[in-house]
Amino acid sequence: MKIENYLTKSLNLELPIIMAPMHFVSNTVMLKAAMDSGIAGAFPSLNHRKEGELEKVLTELNEHKNKNNSKGTYGINLIVGKSNPFYKKHLDICVEQKVPFYITSLGNPKEVIEKAHKYNAIVLSDVTNIAHAKKADQVGCDGFIAVGAGAGGHAGPYPLNVLIPSLKKHFPNKPVIAAGAISSGEGIFSMLSLGASGVSMGTRFIASNESGVAIEYKNGIVNSGMQDIVMTDRLTGTKSTVIYNDFIKKLGLKQSGFEKFMSNNRFTKKYFKMYIQMRGMKWLEGAAIPGSKDSLWMAGQSVEMINNITSIQDIVNKLKEETIIAKEKVDSFFV
Ligand SMILES: Cc1cc2nc3c(=O)[nH]c(=O)nc-3n(C[C@H](O)[C@H](O)[C@H](O)COP(=O)(O)O)c2cc1C
Repeated sequence: MKIENYLTKSLNLELPIIMAPMHFVSNTVMLKAAMDSGIAGAFPSLNHRKEGELEKVLTELNEHKNKNNSKGTYGINLIVGKSNPFYKKHLDICVEQKVPFYITSLGNPKEVIEKAHKYNAIVLSDVTNIAHAKKADQVGCDGFIAVGAGAGGHAGPYPLNVLIPSLKKHFPNKPVIAAGAISSGEGIFSMLSLGASGVSMGTRFIASNESGVAIEYKNGIVNSGMQDIVMTDRLTGTKSTVIYNDFIKKLGLKQSGFEKFMSNNRFTKKYFKMYIQMRGMKWLEGAAIPGSKDSLWMAGQSVEMINNITSIQDIVNKLKEETIIAKEKVDSFFV
């Protein structure tokens, strides 16, 4: 069985799945495995901040995609705006290397869209509400990534079964990709039924053989349940989801009065927010490195359904099988 819809057709995929961009977690081994499995792999440009590194990674991915005639593709996540000092430079490198698709987060994606469309690449914008979506729609994004409640990272406030129909009501012709707490074929099938053109999944792929994070982090995903996921704004200044443990207890779930003051003061906010974001990234990177004692593990509520660490190909095979079974099961109820 094949699924043919906006996402599979526009990115030439076997399945409408994006392996979501994840700070520090996404790596080239995962991206190649995602492509070879017939899905799209995405990664944050900020994972490659050293001089020349992003160019090298993109060349490697383009070569892999062309040489192996991969069934899938890859894309890049750009944090747009002032909090990302690498934004302009990274955008230029991506355009130069003709990255197949973009996922934009935070600021106004206008410039990314204009540059990507010149060579027919598509731009999907992360949105968590209708106001965000209006802004991205006005500047011509090709589709939305609807980030719902329970997602890993900066989760949105609304459940996907409300956010997706609402986006479809306001923007009937705009494709919507569902992100947040999806880790099974049943989840994928339910999102397609709601009107989504595919899913973007992060947390499920952290517990993969190819992800290079500490084994303790992968085990943390497997051994945690939905009740263990909490939100903290101590990491990046914006609320993000982490696994609650002694480390997080010590770190705290709320910014201090000083951090709040500096983030809101009109003279300091620009630089302080940039500093907080970079500090949070460094903390996360340090904690994810194998051998680290810091159990600072970002993950979403789908940990509830993740019970093993396996290869990306196996994860994708299982997702496909489960999606078909879910469809057949629902079909069988209609007599
Ligand atoms: C460890 C981790 C790191 C993330 N880093 C980023 C990031 O750098 N940029 C971004 O736009 N989203 C980031 N996200 C969010 C994902 O792209 C995606 O929206 C989310 O994982 C979907 O929810 P799920 O984890 O429940 O599948 C991150 C998520 C996780 C779990």
